[in-house]
Amino acid sequence: MMIYELSKYSGITSSNFIIFCYFVLKYSAFSTMEEKKKEGRYSRIYDQLTSLVLKSNSQSARMATIVAVLHHKIEYFFWTGFYMIEDGKMTVNIYQGPVACQILEKDKGVCWAAFNKKETVVVEDVHTFPGHIACDSRSNSEIVVPFKNREGEIIGVLDVDSSEKAAFSEVDARWLEKILELVWV
Ligand code: SME
Repeated sequence: MMIYELSKYSGITSSNFIIFCYFVLKYSAFSTMEEKKKEGRYSRIYDQLTSLVLKSNSQSARMATIVAVLHHKIEYFFWTGFYMIEDGKMTVNIYQGPVACQILEKDKGVCWAAFNKKETVVVEDVHTFPGHIACDSRSNSEIVVPFKNREGEIIGVLDVDSSEKAAFSEVDARWLEKILELVWV
């Protein structure tokens, strides 16, 4: 009945509407499955990192290990690394991937947006993000997570780029935030 009403008022035939619903449901089942896969993978990475970071108390050793493990274990990570505030400048730090911009223009782009907002920023399509700084034209989506010191002050960001569009979700945000805390355990 509802399908009949919808097709009557929208002008779409009921068979086309059923096909449309089929694809919507199929797509949402597929993305739920993908998100579940992500959860499992992050959970395994987290366990591995927990034991690795405890082998040293060095901040830089832990940052480097986090970047290496994430970059090599997650296939959609194209560039993975830290930008840290040094003398007020957002300066590239430990990273894996193609050569990156060394200093990011103040208050421009995704890294500065996450730093200034004090929250994780997920960008589905970097080409539509105002002021996005393109260090490599192959990047299509991005996530930037604020990085805090032991006292809870934001001292930089973890930045991940993907060549895939809309590669990052709330699952990436939650796990990356949790993983960054391993620098200080
Ligand atoms: N895209 C970032 C710049 C850093 S690179 O992605 C490695 C930005 O807009 O801040």
